[in-house]
Amino acid sequence: MSIQSVGIVGAGQMGNGIAHVFALAGYDVLLNDIAQESLDKAVATVTKNLDRQVQREKISEAGKDAALARIKTTMALPELGQCDLIIEAATEREAVKDKIFEALLPHLKPTTILASNTSSISITRLASKTDRPERFMGVHFMNPVPVMKLVELIRGIATDDETYQTMLGVVKSLNKTAASAEDFPAFIVNRILVPMINEAVYTLYEGVGNVESIDMAMKLGANHPMGPLELGDFIGLDTCLAIMHVLHDGLADTKYRPCPLLTKYVEAGWLGRKSGRGFYDYR
Ligand code: CAA
Repeated sequence: MSIQSVGIVGAGQMGNGIAHVFALAGYDVLLNDIAQESLDKAVATVTKNLDRQVQREKISEAGKDAALARIKTTMALPELGQCDLIIEAATEREAVKDKIFEALLPHLKPTTILASNTSSISITRLASKTDRPERFMGVHFMNPVPVMKLVELIRGIATDDETYQTMLGVVKSLNKTAASAEDFPAFIVNRILVPMINEAVYTLYEGVGNVESIDMAMKLGANHPMGPLELGDFIGLDTCLAIMHVLHDGLADTKYRPCPLLTKYVEAGWLGRKSGRGFYDYR
Protein backbone atom coordinates (compact mmCIF):
# COMPACT_ATOMS: atom_id res chain seq x y z
CA MET A 1 0.00 0.00 0.00
CA SER A 2 1.38 3.41 -0.88
CA ILE A 3 1.64 6.12 1.75
CA GLN A 4 1.78 9.77 0.74
CA SER A 5 0.14 11.72 3.52
CA VAL A 6 0.88 11.35 7.21
CA GLY A 7 -1.12 12.71 10.12
CA ILE A 8 0.74 13.14 13.39
CA VAL A 9 -1.14 13.57 16.65
CA GLY A 10 0.87 15.43 19.27
CA ALA A 11 3.37 18.17 18.48
CA GLY A 12 5.70 17.64 21.43
CA GLN A 13 9.30 16.46 21.49
CA MET A 14 8.57 13.27 19.51
CA GLY A 15 5.77 14.62 17.29
CA ASN A 16 7.83 17.49 15.92
CA GLY A 17 10.77 15.20 15.22
CA ILE A 18 8.51 12.73 13.41
CA ALA A 19 7.01 15.58 11.35
CA HIS A 20 10.57 16.71 10.53
CA VAL A 21 11.75 13.36 9.14
CA PHE A 22 8.57 12.62 7.17
CA ALA A 23 8.54 16.10 5.57
CA LEU A 24 12.22 15.79 4.67
CA ALA A 25 11.51 12.43 3.02
CA GLY A 26 8.82 14.00 0.81
CA TYR A 27 5.60 13.07 2.63
CA ASP A 28 2.75 15.55 3.15
CA VAL A 29 2.48 16.05 6.89
CA LEU A 30 -0.53 17.22 8.88
CA LEU A 31 0.48 17.89 12.47
CA ASN A 32 -2.22 18.04 15.14
CA ASP A 33 -2.25 19.23 18.73
CA ILE A 34 -4.84 20.56 21.15
CA ALA A 35 -3.03 23.88 21.59
CA GLN A 36 -2.04 26.34 18.84
CA GLU A 37 0.92 27.34 20.98
CA SER A 38 2.25 23.76 20.84
CA LEU A 39 1.86 23.68 17.05
CA ASP A 40 3.68 27.01 16.66
CA LYS A 41 6.44 25.82 18.97
CA ALA A 42 6.75 22.57 16.99
CA VAL A 43 7.13 24.37 13.66
CA ALA A 44 9.74 26.67 15.24
CA THR A 45 11.65 23.63 16.54
CA VAL A 46 11.51 21.85 13.17
CA THR A 47 12.76 25.05 11.49
CA LYS A 48 15.64 25.33 13.98
CA ASN A 49 16.61 21.67 13.53
CA LEU A 50 16.41 21.90 9.72
CA ASP A 51 18.60 25.04 9.90
CA ARG A 52 21.11 23.04 11.90
CA GLN A 53 21.14 20.39 9.15
CA VAL A 54 21.66 23.10 6.49
CA GLN A 55 24.58 24.54 8.50
CA ARG A 56 26.17 21.09 8.75
CA GLU A 57 25.61 20.63 4.99
CA LYS A 58 23.38 17.58 5.48
CA ILE A 59 20.57 19.22 3.47
CA SER A 60 20.28 22.21 1.13
CA GLU A 61 18.41 25.46 1.83
CA ALA A 62 15.93 24.46 -0.92
CA GLY A 63 15.47 21.05 0.73
CA LYS A 64 14.72 22.76 4.03
CA ASP A 65 12.15 25.11 2.43
CA ALA A 66 10.47 22.23 0.61
CA ALA A 67 10.26 20.20 3.83
CA LEU A 68 8.76 23.11 5.77
CA ALA A 69 6.22 23.72 3.01
CA ARG A 70 5.05 20.10 3.36
CA ILE A 71 4.12 20.54 7.04
CA LYS A 72 0.61 21.82 7.74
CA THR A 73 -0.85 22.13 11.21
CA THR A 74 -4.37 21.79 12.58
CA MET A 75 -6.15 21.73 15.92
CA ALA A 76 -9.03 19.78 14.34
CA LEU A 77 -8.33 16.07 14.79
CA PRO A 78 -10.96 14.93 12.20
CA GLU A 79 -8.94 16.66 9.45
CA LEU A 80 -6.36 13.87 9.80
CA GLY A 81 -8.98 11.37 8.62
CA GLN A 82 -7.92 11.65 4.97
CA CYS A 83 -4.28 10.76 5.68
CA ASP A 84 -2.89 7.39 4.53
CA LEU A 85 -1.06 6.91 7.82
CA ILE A 86 -1.70 8.41 11.25
CA ILE A 87 0.95 8.29 13.95
CA GLU A 88 -0.16 9.05 17.47
CA ALA A 89 2.64 10.70 19.46
CA ALA A 90 0.65 12.15 22.35
CA THR A 91 1.28 11.94 26.08
CA GLU A 92 2.32 8.49 27.31
CA ARG A 93 -1.02 7.78 29.01
CA GLU A 94 -3.25 5.02 27.72
CA ALA A 95 -6.50 6.89 28.43
CA VAL A 96 -5.29 9.85 26.34
CA LYS A 97 -4.31 7.59 23.45
CA ASP A 98 -7.64 5.71 23.61
CA LYS A 99 -9.55 8.99 23.41
CA ILE A 100 -7.55 10.13 20.38
CA PHE A 101 -8.18 6.90 18.46
CA GLU A 102 -11.86 6.93 19.44
CA ALA A 103 -12.21 10.50 18.14
CA LEU A 104 -10.39 9.64 14.90
CA LEU A 105 -12.25 6.43 14.00
CA PRO A 106 -15.42 7.94 12.42
CA HIS A 107 -13.29 10.09 10.08
CA LEU A 108 -10.81 7.52 8.75
CA LYS A 109 -10.54 6.10 5.26
CA PRO A 110 -10.95 2.29 5.39
CA THR A 111 -7.35 1.86 4.26
CA THR A 112 -5.71 4.24 6.74
CA ILE A 113 -3.00 2.67 8.87
CA LEU A 114 -3.03 3.67 12.53
CA ALA A 115 0.23 3.69 14.45
CA SER A 116 1.31 4.64 17.91
CA ASN A 117 4.72 5.98 18.89
CA THR A 118 4.14 4.63 22.40
CA SER A 119 7.36 3.72 24.15
CA SER A 120 5.85 0.97 26.26
CA ILE A 121 2.06 0.55 26.14
CA SER A 122 0.64 -2.68 24.65
CA ILE A 123 -0.01 -2.30 20.93
CA THR A 124 -2.41 -5.25 21.02
CA ARG A 125 -4.53 -3.54 23.68
CA LEU A 126 -4.52 -0.13 21.95
CA ALA A 127 -5.42 -1.82 18.64
CA SER A 128 -8.22 -3.88 20.16
CA LYS A 129 -10.16 -0.73 20.95
CA THR A 130 -10.13 0.43 17.30
CA ASP A 131 -12.02 -0.82 14.24
CA ARG A 132 -8.79 -1.95 12.52
CA PRO A 133 -6.47 -4.02 14.71
CA GLU A 134 -5.04 -5.59 11.53
CA ARG A 135 -3.96 -2.16 10.29
CA PHE A 136 -2.56 -0.96 13.64
CA MET A 137 1.12 -1.00 14.63
CA GLY A 138 3.68 0.35 17.02
CA VAL A 139 6.13 2.67 15.27
CA HIS A 140 8.57 3.80 17.93
CA PHE A 141 11.01 6.59 17.04
CA MET A 142 14.02 7.48 19.20
CA ASN A 143 14.85 10.94 20.50
CA PRO A 144 16.21 13.12 18.88
CA VAL A 145 14.23 11.77 15.94
CA PRO A 146 16.17 13.55 13.15
CA VAL A 147 19.46 12.06 14.44
CA MET A 148 18.67 8.55 15.69
CA LYS A 149 18.79 5.84 13.06
CA LEU A 150 16.44 3.33 14.68
CA VAL A 151 12.70 2.85 14.52
CA GLU A 152 11.20 -0.06 16.46
CA LEU A 153 8.34 -1.70 14.60
CA ILE A 154 5.97 -3.51 16.92
CA ARG A 155 3.28 -5.81 15.62
CA GLY A 156 0.19 -6.28 17.71
CA ILE A 157 -1.21 -9.79 17.80
CA ALA A 158 -3.60 -8.95 14.95
CA THR A 159 -1.36 -6.75 12.76
CA ASP A 160 -1.38 -8.11 9.20
CA ASP A 161 1.65 -8.65 6.96
CA GLU A 162 0.65 -5.98 4.46
CA THR A 163 0.64 -3.33 7.21
CA TYR A 164 3.97 -4.51 8.55
CA GLN A 165 5.59 -4.55 5.09
CA THR A 166 4.16 -1.12 4.29
CA MET A 167 5.63 0.32 7.49
CA LEU A 168 8.96 -1.39 6.82
CA GLY A 169 9.04 0.43 3.48
CA VAL A 170 8.10 3.72 5.14
CA VAL A 171 10.94 3.37 7.67
CA LYS A 172 13.42 2.70 4.83
CA SER A 173 12.14 5.74 2.92
CA LEU A 174 13.00 7.87 5.98
CA ASN A 175 16.57 6.56 5.72
CA LYS A 176 16.19 4.82 9.05
CA THR A 177 16.60 1.20 10.11
CA ALA A 178 13.81 -0.88 11.59
CA ALA A 179 14.15 -3.34 14.47
CA SER A 180 11.20 -5.69 14.79
CA ALA A 181 9.93 -6.19 18.30
CA GLU A 182 7.22 -8.41 19.66
CA ASP A 183 4.50 -6.75 21.69
CA PHE A 184 5.77 -7.15 25.26
CA PRO A 185 6.17 -4.39 27.85
CA ALA A 186 8.54 -1.61 26.68
CA PHE A 187 9.57 -3.64 23.59
CA ILE A 188 13.38 -3.81 23.07
CA VAL A 189 15.06 -0.44 23.54
CA ASN A 190 13.22 0.72 26.63
CA ARG A 191 13.20 -2.76 28.20
CA ILE A 192 16.99 -2.47 28.32
CA LEU A 193 17.63 1.28 28.47
CA VAL A 194 15.17 2.47 31.11
CA PRO A 195 16.08 -0.14 33.79
CA MET A 196 19.68 1.02 33.25
CA ILE A 197 18.62 4.62 33.93
CA ASN A 198 16.60 3.43 36.96
CA GLU A 199 19.69 1.57 38.20
CA ALA A 200 21.74 4.77 37.81
CA VAL A 201 19.16 6.54 40.01
CA TYR A 202 19.56 3.74 42.60
CA THR A 203 23.32 4.26 42.41
CA LEU A 204 22.74 7.93 43.28
CA TYR A 205 20.09 7.08 45.92
CA GLU A 206 22.41 4.65 47.68
CA GLY A 207 25.30 7.14 47.60
CA VAL A 208 27.56 4.99 45.44
CA GLY A 209 28.40 8.04 43.34
CA ASN A 210 27.23 11.60 42.75
CA VAL A 211 25.42 12.77 39.60
CA GLU A 212 28.60 13.87 37.84
CA SER A 213 30.61 10.74 38.67
CA ILE A 214 27.81 8.37 37.64
CA ASP A 215 27.42 10.09 34.27
CA MET A 216 31.16 10.44 33.77
CA ALA A 217 31.64 6.74 34.58
CA MET A 218 29.20 5.61 31.91
CA LYS A 219 30.36 8.13 29.30
CA LEU A 220 34.05 7.40 29.61
CA GLY A 221 33.78 3.87 30.96
CA ALA A 222 31.18 2.47 28.59
CA ASN A 223 31.36 4.96 25.71
CA HIS A 224 27.74 6.09 26.06
CA PRO A 225 27.14 9.44 24.31
CA MET A 226 25.27 10.70 27.39
CA GLY A 227 25.46 9.60 31.02
CA PRO A 228 22.35 7.71 32.25
CA LEU A 229 21.13 10.55 34.49
CA GLU A 230 21.62 13.14 31.74
CA LEU A 231 19.78 10.76 29.40
CA GLY A 232 16.94 10.39 31.93
CA ASP A 233 16.62 14.18 32.01
CA PHE A 234 16.66 14.20 28.20
CA ILE A 235 13.93 11.54 27.84
CA GLY A 236 11.87 13.02 30.71
CA LEU A 237 11.88 11.53 34.21
CA ASP A 238 8.08 11.17 34.12
CA THR A 239 8.40 9.09 30.94
CA CYS A 240 11.14 6.96 32.54
CA LEU A 241 8.97 6.40 35.62
CA ALA A 242 5.93 5.53 33.49
CA ILE A 243 8.01 2.95 31.59
CA MET A 244 9.29 1.43 34.86
CA HIS A 245 5.66 1.08 36.02
CA VAL A 246 4.70 -0.63 32.75
CA LEU A 247 7.63 -3.07 33.16
CA HIS A 248 6.92 -3.68 36.85
CA ASP A 249 3.19 -4.22 36.33
CA GLY A 250 3.51 -6.12 33.05
CA LEU A 251 6.33 -8.48 33.98
CA ALA A 252 5.62 -8.73 37.73
CA ASP A 253 9.29 -8.87 38.62
CA THR A 254 10.79 -6.81 41.46
CA LYS A 255 13.89 -6.17 39.37
CA TYR A 256 11.80 -3.52 37.60
CA ARG A 257 10.77 -1.63 40.76
CA PRO A 258 11.08 2.13 40.20
CA CYS A 259 13.71 3.79 42.39
CA PRO A 260 12.00 5.85 45.15
CA LEU A 261 14.25 8.79 44.25
CA LEU A 262 12.97 8.73 40.65
CA THR A 263 9.40 8.78 41.97
CA LYS A 264 10.26 11.67 44.29
CA TYR A 265 11.73 13.77 41.48
CA VAL A 266 8.62 13.23 39.36
CA GLU A 267 6.36 14.09 42.31
CA ALA A 268 8.37 17.31 42.76
CA GLY A 269 7.78 18.19 39.11
CA TRP A 270 11.51 17.80 38.43
CA LEU A 271 11.03 16.10 35.09
CA GLY A 272 14.36 16.89 33.45
CA ARG A 273 15.07 19.26 30.58
CA LYS A 274 11.45 19.96 29.75
CA SER A 275 10.64 21.31 33.23
CA GLY A 276 13.99 23.10 33.64
CA ARG A 277 15.18 20.81 36.42
CA GLY A 278 15.97 17.14 36.86
CA PHE A 279 19.27 15.66 37.93
CA TYR A 280 20.75 18.80 36.34
CA ASP A 281 19.55 22.39 36.42
CA TYR A 282 18.59 23.75 32.97
CA ARG A 283 17.21 27.12 34.13
N1 CAA B 1 17.69 17.73 15.14
C1 CAA B 1 18.58 17.63 14.13
N2 CAA B 1 19.88 17.38 14.33
C2 CAA B 1 20.31 17.27 15.61
C3 CAA B 1 19.44 17.38 16.71
C4 CAA B 1 18.08 17.62 16.44
N3 CAA B 1 17.18 17.71 17.41
N4 CAA B 1 20.16 17.21 17.84
C5 CAA B 1 21.44 16.98 17.47
N5 CAA B 1 21.52 17.01 16.12
C6 CAA B 1 22.70 16.73 15.31
C7 CAA B 1 23.76 17.79 15.37
O1 CAA B 1 23.52 18.78 14.41
C8 CAA B 1 25.01 16.98 15.08
O2 CAA B 1 25.11 16.74 13.70
P1 CAA B 1 26.53 16.37 12.98
O3 CAA B 1 26.88 14.98 13.43
O4 CAA B 1 26.21 16.43 11.53
O5 CAA B 1 27.51 17.38 13.43
C9 CAA B 1 24.75 15.66 15.76
O6 CAA B 1 23.32 15.57 15.87
C10 CAA B 1 25.38 15.60 17.14
O7 CAA B 1 24.89 16.70 17.89
P2 CAA B 1 25.80 17.66 18.78
O8 CAA B 1 27.18 17.75 18.21
O9 CAA B 1 25.05 18.94 19.02
O10 CAA B 1 25.81 16.99 20.19
P3 CAA B 1 26.30 15.58 20.63
O11 CAA B 1 27.45 15.09 19.84
O12 CAA B 1 26.43 15.72 22.09
O13 CAA B 1 25.05 14.61 20.28
C11 CAA B 1 23.03 13.51 20.80
C12 CAA B 1 23.78 14.84 20.79
C13 CAA B 1 22.82 13.04 19.36
C14 CAA B 1 21.70 13.78 21.45
C15 CAA B 1 23.89 12.46 21.59
O14 CAA B 1 24.23 12.98 22.86
C16 CAA B 1 23.19 11.14 21.76
O15 CAA B 1 23.19 10.31 20.86
N6 CAA B 1 22.62 10.93 22.96
C17 CAA B 1 21.89 9.70 23.28
C18 CAA B 1 20.51 9.80 22.70
C19 CAA B 1 19.71 8.57 23.00
O16 CAA B 1 20.13 7.61 23.64
N7 CAA B 1 18.48 8.59 22.51
C20 CAA B 1 17.54 7.53 22.76
C21 CAA B 1 16.69 7.92 23.89
S1 CAA B 1 15.54 6.64 24.25
C22 CAA B 1 14.25 6.98 23.30
O17 CAA B 1 14.16 7.95 22.59
C23 CAA B 1 13.17 6.00 23.41
C24 CAA B 1 12.11 6.32 24.39
O18 CAA B 1 10.98 5.94 24.14
C25 CAA B 1 12.34 6.95 25.68
